[in-house]
Amino acid sequence: MTDHVIGLDVSTTATKAVLVDEAGRVVATGVSEYSYQTPAPLWSEQDPTFWWEGTREAIRAALAAGGVSGDRVAAVGLTGQMHGLVLLDVDGQILRPAILWNDQRTAKECDEIRALVGRDQFIAITGNDALTGFTAPKLLWVKNEEPEIYARIRHVLLPKDYVRFRLTSSYATDKAGASGTVLFDLANRTWSAEVMAALKINPSWLPSGFEGPEVTGYVTEEGARATGLAPGTPVVAGGGDQAASAVGTGAVREGVVALSLGTSGVVFVAGNAPRTEPDGRLHAFCHAVPRMWHLMGVMLSAAGSLRWFRDELACGESFEFLMAEAAAASPGAEGLVFLPYLTGERTPYPDPVARGAFVGLTVRHGRSHLVRSVIEGVSFGLRDGIELMKGMGVEVQQIRASGGGTKSELWRQVLADVLGAEIVTVTTAEGAAFGAAILAAVGAEWVETVGEACDAWVTVGQATVPGVDQDRYGELYEVYRELYPALRPFFDRLSSFDRSND
Ligand code: XUL
Repeated sequence: MTDHVIGLDVSTTATKAVLVDEAGRVVATGVSEYSYQTPAPLWSEQDPTFWWEGTREAIRAALAAGGVSGDRVAAVGLTGQMHGLVLLDVDGQILRPAILWNDQRTAKECDEIRALVGRDQFIAITGNDALTGFTAPKLLWVKNEEPEIYARIRHVLLPKDYVRFRLTSSYATDKAGASGTVLFDLANRTWSAEVMAALKINPSWLPSGFEGPEVTGYVTEEGARATGLAPGTPVVAGGGDQAASAVGTGAVREGVVALSLGTSGVVFVAGNAPRTEPDGRLHAFCHAVPRMWHLMGVMLSAAGSLRWFRDELACGESFEFLMAEAAAASPGAEGLVFLPYLTGERTPYPDPVARGAFVGLTVRHGRSHLVRSVIEGVSFGLRDGIELMKGMGVEVQQIRASGGGTKSELWRQVLADVLGAEIVTVTTAEGAAFGAAILAAVGAEWVETVGEACDAWVTVGQATVPGVDQDRYGELYEVYRELYPALRPFFDRLSSFDRSND
């Protein structure tokens, strides 16, 4: 009897397995945490074996906690951090640490791509500009800086697809993740021969691309011994974490907007046709739902800004305490504005050297104002993405919210006021892993379509509607959006003071 599915999320900080029963109930979860390395400023790397160790532990823990044996799992769905570059040699051995989504070292390679393909042509094919976070420039960086490693490459994978390889021995990926490499033809949902020819990348290195619920392979004897799953368990393609998270909140129909407030902050809108922001300021990728696409804005330090604030300026305090402090300050923090570009930015400013700032400090400002301006500044950053979507004709009435930051009632209210839309939460907080479990359920043929599965399994929770502070925030947003262009000229000069440049 197979009466459960597993969604597995291979994220930057942990691998999480979510065990879900036939009614869509989360029966148990297993989590295994790890860290990532920053060997040089702007760099971010991780050892792929962490993900495999994490997978073994997380799946075993979820099965044990649920009291469910591996042979009761009908299918596994994979999701995880997007854009990471994993390089394997002819024997499937790891060639170097993976270069992650938040690595910013490839500004030169992005220019190289624009020159080789032509910026407009590149956007026309892939839907996106070449940005430092994406996979293609990372591959060129290895070619330029580590030619001896480049010469040994036989397989290029994304992080969760390395786990797929260890589970099933197959080299495969999902189309949402594949489009995030920017080596993909967005409209035709296939690898782009033109881009690969221009960048001289060997197409045989890339894995086969599958739609989210399609079966990509089956758990091998070795994969089964490691995880406690049964040999032969189907593994479906799944999706990049943002597409899977959107599935987990039910953003699977034209025009439904999802917002995720984790370390990074994302606004996401699903659509039935490929759409591209003409200047590539929104990412345009395939959805994990067959024949659907999505647009998204990604800010790099969302709840990550609040974590930085807590760790550096409010050490030892809990997030709840900080939120109570923020509530004590008035909306607009008495004219204090925070720019959340602590790790550079992607949307709407693809700028690896952008920096954070508090603008408008006076002696009257205390910690409560500072923390309030952090959550307001992050919310303004998300509004930048929503404004780009509105500019493309997207109507935003309701936003489905997920991620740690949206647990705070205050932050949900600030978001509703700043974005001018109703914010609803969903009852399952398991995000991308739950979305991957939904895709596994479709792959296991429990239901026919992802939409049907979401209707049955995703329930909307609390709603927060815009309140009286909407206009006040509207005025402050006008100031916020003028600050980056005004400060931009100084960011390069300031980054020359980085210790690494001594
Ligand atoms: C999406 C993105 C992040 C990573 C990390 O474009 O870069 O969501 O996938 O989670």
